[in-house]
Amino acid sequence: MKFCMSSVFYFLVIITVFLPLIVADLNSDKQALLEFHAAVPHRRNLNWNSTNPICTTWVGITCTQDNSSVLALRLPGVGFIGRIPSNTLGKLGSLKILSLRSNRFNGDLPSDITTLPSLQYLYLQHNNLTGDLPASFSFQLNVLDLSFNSFTGNISETIQNLTSLTRLNLQNNNLSGAIPNLNLTRLKQLNLSYNQLSGPIPSSLQRFPSSSFIGNSLLCGPPLQACSPSPSPSPSPTFSPPPPELPKKQGSKKKLSLGVIIAIAVGGSVVLLLLALIVLCCCLKKKDNGGSSVLKGKASGGGRSEKPKEEFGSGVQEPEKNKLVFFEGCSYNFDLEDLLRASAEVLGKGSYGTAYKAVLEESTTVVVKRLKEVVVGKKDFEQQMEIIGRVGQHPNVVPLRAYYYSKDEKLLVYDYIPGGSLSTLLHGDRGGGRSPLDWESRVKISLGIARGISHVHSMGGPKFAHGNIKSSNVLINQEHDGCISDLGLTPLMNVPATPSRSVGYRAPEVIETRKHTHKSDVYSFGVLLLEMLTGKAPLQSPRRDDMVDLPRWVQSVVREEWTAEVFDVELMRFQNIEEEMVQMLQIAMACVAKVADMRPNMDEVVRMIEEVRQSDSENRPSSEENKSKDSNVQTP
Ligand SMILES: *[C@@H]1O[C@H](CO)[C@@H](O)[C@H](O)[C@H]1NC(C)=O
Ligand SMILES: *[C@@H]1O[C@H](CO)[C@@H](O)[C@H](O)[C@H]1NC(C)=O
Ligand SMILES: *[C@@H]1O[C@H](CO)[C@@H](O)[C@H](O)[C@H]1NC(C)=O
Repeated sequence: MKFCMSSVFYFLVIITVFLPLIVADLNSDKQALLEFHAAVPHRRNLNWNSTNPICTTWVGITCTQDNSSVLALRLPGVGFIGRIPSNTLGKLGSLKILSLRSNRFNGDLPSDITTLPSLQYLYLQHNNLTGDLPASFSFQLNVLDLSFNSFTGNISETIQNLTSLTRLNLQNNNLSGAIPNLNLTRLKQLNLSYNQLSGPIPSSLQRFPSSSFIGNSLLCGPPLQACSPSPSPSPSPTFSPPPPELPKKQGSKKKLSLGVIIAIAVGGSVVLLLLALIVLCCCLKKKDNGGSSVLKGKASGGGRSEKPKEEFGSGVQEPEKNKLVFFEGCSYNFDLEDLLRASAEVLGKGSYGTAYKAVLEESTTVVVKRLKEVVVGKKDFEQQMEIIGRVGQHPNVVPLRAYYYSKDEKLLVYDYIPGGSLSTLLHGDRGGGRSPLDWESRVKISLGIARGISHVHSMGGPKFAHGNIKSSNVLINQEHDGCISDLGLTPLMNVPATPSRSVGYRAPEVIETRKHTHKSDVYSFGVLLLEMLTGKAPLQSPRRDDMVDLPRWVQSVVREEWTAEVFDVELMRFQNIEEEMVQMLQIAMACVAKVADMRPNMDEVVRMIEEVRQSDSENRPSSEENKSKDSNVQTP
């Protein structure tokens, strides 16, 4: 009983002491944010209205669960321009996550931001910040991304103190000098590429790949090239970091002044009070509703451990933001709002709409396709998405991860495949500096695509066709294999009557009936094979009367005599492949038969190409031009 009384007493004391503080905290955060907002011009309207509640209505703000202070500020790509004012964001005492990436901030990075006591994640990449890197940082810092700015000067040795750091991205700045010996055991990702750093790479950082250091011509030692004129035999850090820091350290060893003692005393009691507060908060939370975390808009997360996920969804309120529909088994963890905030870059405009490359926080990159001219209703759309999601589970098919449907906007989210399209590889920039796609790769990609399409046909049933096979829809993955994208969209769209690039791939019967079938997919695939063999695009000339019908052109050349003329000149440099090229040509010609019933099935096509491959590995004499791809596939 006594115990109970006394705890109630303490409880009351703590409440009376801290309640005003909590309110004051949020108010001062709000004030700081308003000052920031007023000081920096920006393109997008943020809707930060001082009369509205900041935790629930302000864009880009996430508060702590008890709404007592601002936890995260994420405003990437808002069009901020100018300096980051000091004494504004630097007042957000509880801020844990700050993302202002992909804006146009310039000038110095104020040190009151980097030293925010709770700061754990700082994303400022893709701005134009200049000056030296700040010398001091919050000890809590976990991710520091200052890449793609214009920072100059040395990498300060004080980074060594950031023992929690897991990711350090400083690439694409103008940093110079030696890299300090950073002995950060938790560091998992490091990128210092494209600066002007010099000297040997310190031993503690040699565990990172060379791509962490490239683009610094004066840097040497493992994992880069050995330092050539090095007289010192040991690679130990003989290259001592710059001395200017030393005097400062000595200065700080002065005797403790009275002021410092008082500061420590006050600081100590503040820490105690804070502890009490934390305990209190925990108790309070348990008492009312323990599990109020909002996670609606997210796909069920795969276990990336570093970020406090449960806090991210708390800003999600408008019903619209929850409507990104993810497919099962997808490990992405973002919502529509994140997606719309991501920095986006146009990848291409097609007849179905525009594709964007969107880079989200945590380096997640996806492709967002914005469909125009969708002619079906919501139900049909969802049904088709369901099928696409199901049949697209194959290593040679680019998987659809999520979609969004509303009256005014239809978005599809795909994995980002970094290798570019087959179209670019075949036709892009036939100038000097480009290495032509070799024969092995061409066959491998063709076989992969054939397998992908065959899978789609067998999984989707007789009525489900890909409907839009063309070289710009063939993407090259990290294994240098082909992946087919954009399947199953044709029935949803009002395909424009104006001739587009895909016309050249269209089977004769499709031009009349507008219906896509398995056999019309086979025809399109045949045109793709011809394109791969000849290096010619199915529609070369935009002038109508001069339109090249690739199958007919090949037929006419081949009928006269079997000359090498049909084949891509870029293939001429590879030896001992003629036999295979002719075999592939025959497969292609079978696929583009005018009468649909004469064309083989897709699984037959797969078998035929596999046979070409087999005869290839059995009896091909090695030639120096055919450098064996398999031997240098081992990427790290
Ligand atoms: C970045 O800032 C520098 C100098 O402040 C300026 O010369 C440069 O044009 C800026 N770059 C961009 C992309 O704005
Ligand atoms: C940067 O480091 C180099 C040695 O690596 C030193 O000579 C130079 O003075 C340093 N510059 C600054 C601005 O600290
Ligand atoms: C570092 O950044 C450069 C340039 O953006 C990139 O090419 C390289 O792959 C990156 N390296 C790592 C290890 O992420």
